[in-house]
Amino acid sequence: MTITDPILSLDGVCAGYGGGDVLQGVSFEVNRGGITCIVGPNGAGKSTLLAAVTGLIKPRVGSIKFNGETISGLSPRAVLSKGVVLVPQNHSLFPDMTVRENVELGAYTIKDRQVVKDRRDKIEEMFPVVRSKAKDKAGSLSGGQQRLVEFARCLMLDPSLVILDEPSMGLDPKTLHVVFQTMRAMNADGRSILLVEQNAKAGLKASSHGVVLENGRVRLLGTGREVLEHPEIATLYLGGSVEAAGGVR
Ligand SMILES: Nc1ncnc2c1ncn2[C@@H]1O[C@H](COP(=O)(O)OP(=O)(O)OP(=O)(O)O)[C@@H](O)[C@H]1O
Ligand SMILES: [Mg+2]
Repeated sequence: MTITDPILSLDGVCAGYGGGDVLQGVSFEVNRGGITCIVGPNGAGKSTLLAAVTGLIKPRVGSIKFNGETISGLSPRAVLSKGVVLVPQNHSLFPDMTVRENVELGAYTIKDRQVVKDRRDKIEEMFPVVRSKAKDKAGSLSGGQQRLVEFARCLMLDPSLVILDEPSMGLDPKTLHVVFQTMRAMNADGRSILLVEQNAKAGLKASSHGVVLENGRVRLLGTGREVLEHPEIATLYLGGSVEAAGGVR
């Protein structure tokens, strides 16, 4: 599958934490304006891949390009300033600070207070929970509400690529639905999305493209639907047939 003008492309990326490579030559592209979902078992290297993209670890070999420009080797802050923002797998709000303070922290690199205020106002319109709970301590919110606040915070830098690491983790189905709806709203707002999901069924159904990662290698690439309907993937990750999962949207 070739994607013309991808927003992000990885080419032969090998990376790890010093004790050997976790990623063993990963190549794929993220389509501009779409939602690309990475699925794969625990320990496959999904979060490691996101760490490499966001500058937290440096690939040993291979390249990562954002808008055609090499970003592998840049610092996390430099990657952030290019418009690539990660919402990490584990909850990352400061529990003793208010919701509003947490959201404003997302704009810590922006000096212009008016820009910060304008963005915050726009974000509060998009996220009712951020407005209604503005003065509450972030730690008093439910897991799902905290996720939404994390999404809101990441939008403060007006990113063109939003990276979400397992946003559905620990959420009940109803909350998962709200979180995915919010992801689609961010996408409809012109942001490309790179999503990692353990809940492969829900993740692929919500996505334009899918990537299956296993043992640090890309096992399968395709549209979200192709990956979802692939017989082996259905058996491995989706607990049997796609029909049992309620079919494809
Ligand atoms: N900070 C770290 N230092 C050393 N090894 C790590 C570190 N983080 C992850 N690993 C190892 O790298 C491998 C891939 O882990 P990674 O977290 O990328 O997997 P994952 O696909 O995100 O899994 P999960 O679905 O459980 O989040 C694992 O063997 C893990 O133990
Ligand atoms: Mg992970």
